[in-house]
Amino acid sequence: MDKMAVSNNSVAKSLSERDQKHLWHPLTQHKLHPEMLGIVKAKGALLYDENGKEYIDGIASWYTSVYGHCNDYILAKVYDQMQRLDQVVFSGFTHEPAVRLSEELVKILPSGQEKLFFSDNGSTASEIGIKMALQYHFNRGTKRKVMLAFEEGFHGDTFGAMSVSGLSVYNGPFEDFFIEVERIPVPTKNNIRDILPHLENRLKHNNIAGFIYEPLVQGAAAMKMHDADGLDQILRLLKSHDILTIADEVMTGFGKTGKHFASDYIPSKPDIICLSKALTAGLLPMAITSCTQKVYNAFYSDEIAKGLFHGHTYTGNPLACTAALAGLELLQSEEIQDNIKRVMKSHQQFDVEIKDHPKVAGTRQCGIIYALDLNVKMERYGNLRDKLFKHFMDNGVFLRPLGNTIYILAPYVVSDVQLQKVYEVIKSSLEIV
Ligand SMILES: Cc1ncc(COP(=O)(O)O)c(C=O)c1O
Repeated sequence: MDKMAVSNNSVAKSLSERDQKHLWHPLTQHKLHPEMLGIVKAKGALLYDENGKEYIDGIASWYTSVYGHCNDYILAKVYDQMQRLDQVVFSGFTHEPAVRLSEELVKILPSGQEKLFFSDNGSTASEIGIKMALQYHFNRGTKRKVMLAFEEGFHGDTFGAMSVSGLSVYNGPFEDFFIEVERIPVPTKNNIRDILPHLENRLKHNNIAGFIYEPLVQGAAAMKMHDADGLDQILRLLKSHDILTIADEVMTGFGKTGKHFASDYIPSKPDIICLSKALTAGLLPMAITSCTQKVYNAFYSDEIAKGLFHGHTYTGNPLACTAALAGLELLQSEEIQDNIKRVMKSHQQFDVEIKDHPKVAGTRQCGIIYALDLNVKMERYGNLRDKLFKHFMDNGVFLRPLGNTIYILAPYVVSDVQLQKVYEVIKSSLEIV
């Protein structure tokens, strides 16, 4: 077969079929899940597949497209920027979109954040936060090698980020290479009385460099939520021992908890913040690790080696910065703030309706994030997740259950009608479990 024939042949095949030849997808065991759904278009809260079927994007495409897919305002800004400067090295050069983004973002970040370090995704944002914490102490001549993290946290899939994430069954091949990490449970009204004395005791060793945490909501742990007051007490204690606190707001950032950042609910402000996902509104990949002047000053020196020698080729990409700037404008607009309040209220009403259902073990909400645990026995490798997923997709709603938890994290612009449809398919899913 000549090349032309191959390409003509490939035109006849579906995306889903062509995909299987060369592509290797994330978080996928291809032998068990060989087929990917071909998506050809997205607008607002909707995704369209190659057969013309539409789906409500109930998880804002992994918490990114919060202002709606292919948002006209963001697209126009990025298109305009594209005509002038697409990409330039960010080491030795700077540009207007990055400078403006730094000015605008610092205005709304939790207080104390002064410096922004760019990278490409949530994992690298955490990785850099961890490196900042380790090098902060190293530069000051006090080598601290241990990181502290929450049990069941998730911070990404690069080595440092994997190390500080709660041990997953999938991390087996890499665990021997992890950095040293100790874990504490997330605070509750009851266990905080045990956590604090345990920590006080542990801190006598003086070898913990930093504490990384997902504030208020642990996304990958099935939207597990914890107590702001308990977290505040932990942060205060750690700060008094000069342990750098790293808020991983990759999932929670940019309005999802009802405030701009989850850290806004907690009086103790972090030393370092990791941002990605909704930072660029789902248009382009980018991440930022921000920090206080105190952290930055530990790197500011006549000695070159005290600098943070970390860098990615696409650092501070002008187009991604432009998308982020447009996203910030939208986040602070009355329209989006009203939408956030509307979605929060709608979830509260749904909760009243569903929480006492016999198949529901518990529900929780933080901002526009709503989660519901099913009152069903979970077999470790059972097919509950696949069964639910199929039910949702068959009914035109994209939700990704985590274990026996169903959660909603839809774009802020999701309509009331669309939300009702999401609730209806969740209700009907209770009949099949
Ligand atoms: C809290 C948190 N941190 C880090 C990450 C990793 O982000 P990425 O997938 O962009 O590497 C995620 C991804 O879901 C996350 O939820």
